[in-house]
Amino acid sequence: MRIPIIKPFIDENIKCKVLSVLESGYLTEGSVTREFEEVCREYLGPRHCIAVSSCTVGLEMALRCLNIGPEDEVIVPDYTYPATAYAVAIVGAKIILVDVNPKTMLIDYDALEEAITPSTSAVIPVSLFGNPLDYDRLKAIKKKFGIYIVEDAACALGAEYKGRRVGTLADITVFSLHPRKFITTGEGGLITTEYDTWAAWLTSYKKFGIGHNPSREESVFERIGTNYKLSNILAAIGLGQMQHIDGLLIKRKKLASIYIQLLDGMKGLSLPLTTPAGSHSYQSFSVLVENRDHILEALRSQGIEVQIGTYSLHLQPAFQNSQICQIKSDMNGSNYAYKHCLTLPLYHDMCTEDQKEVVTAIKSYLKD
Ligand SMILES: Cc1ncc(COP(=O)(O)O)c(C=O)c1O
Repeated sequence: MRIPIIKPFIDENIKCKVLSVLESGYLTEGSVTREFEEVCREYLGPRHCIAVSSCTVGLEMALRCLNIGPEDEVIVPDYTYPATAYAVAIVGAKIILVDVNPKTMLIDYDALEEAITPSTSAVIPVSLFGNPLDYDRLKAIKKKFGIYIVEDAACALGAEYKGRRVGTLADITVFSLHPRKFITTGEGGLITTEYDTWAAWLTSYKKFGIGHNPSREESVFERIGTNYKLSNILAAIGLGQMQHIDGLLIKRKKLASIYIQLLDGMKGLSLPLTTPAGSHSYQSFSVLVENRDHILEALRSQGIEVQIGTYSLHLQPAFQNSQICQIKSDMNGSNYAYKHCLTLPLYHDMCTEDQKEVVTAIKSYLKD
């Protein structure tokens, strides 16, 4: 595509870091991964930050760490990438789908409260597209019902709420480092938490259940675990990218503000609302338009890579099996977002001319 939706930031320094890992001969998870975890921990601010091989497995690990399984119900917003709900099914728990607010496309907090039963153990709210959640509301719900909050922050690296970064606001938060994200390791994820025992469990589980045993040479396998490690090679890419996170984020916010100015007052188009007291990271810049599918096709045919926002899970065959999934709301908000949300190109070296071209093209196809 002439104007892509995202471009990974790769400079000479990142190439050198990867080469240096390749030359070291130590390719699997090791000291570079540790350094990457520490840099991310310092940036995000939690007590613990654990690198894993994807956000999807990170969500699964979070639920396992909380002992969530076949007896439990976990509430998930209907409008999200399917991986959010897959994690629940993978640990054997029941997925409870609730609606989203059509103005923010984030979980509908009233629908969430109404869906809670004595079997509810957790909610996985999604800070979709980089729009932070209303953590005050979520904390009040947690306090009232005693459920865990496992945030799917796949898209929310760098987002903030009341001056605190996402990654410190839920019991466990999971980020994605997939190339659709502005900080990427190719594939990868990060889990953050404040709790030492959970962090120790998560760190051990991703490495075959190995425990810490400083007095002996051989490993001690303390629990059944798996292999969800992030290699030194991938961590080297992430380390190089993290050196630029502040600049990349400022650039994304600047590009978003230019889009907002250019789109201002356009009939037939509205902008999703950012959570009050939140700072959006604009992982995706999305708009709501009446004739979305027509605009999407037309822009793509001109070489402008636009995408739908994400998916309504209740419409996907994978979730239409009542054994694993229960649909709790009318899903009007989710259906609306699934039909009308359009994501526009936004990458670090995008120029204003390209933004103007995108906006002019949208304007010419808009139905008001
Ligand atoms: C909201 C959400 N959750 C989870 C994922 C899965 O992330 P990963 O590809 O790192 O497993 C994505 C991927 O885009 C996502 O958008």
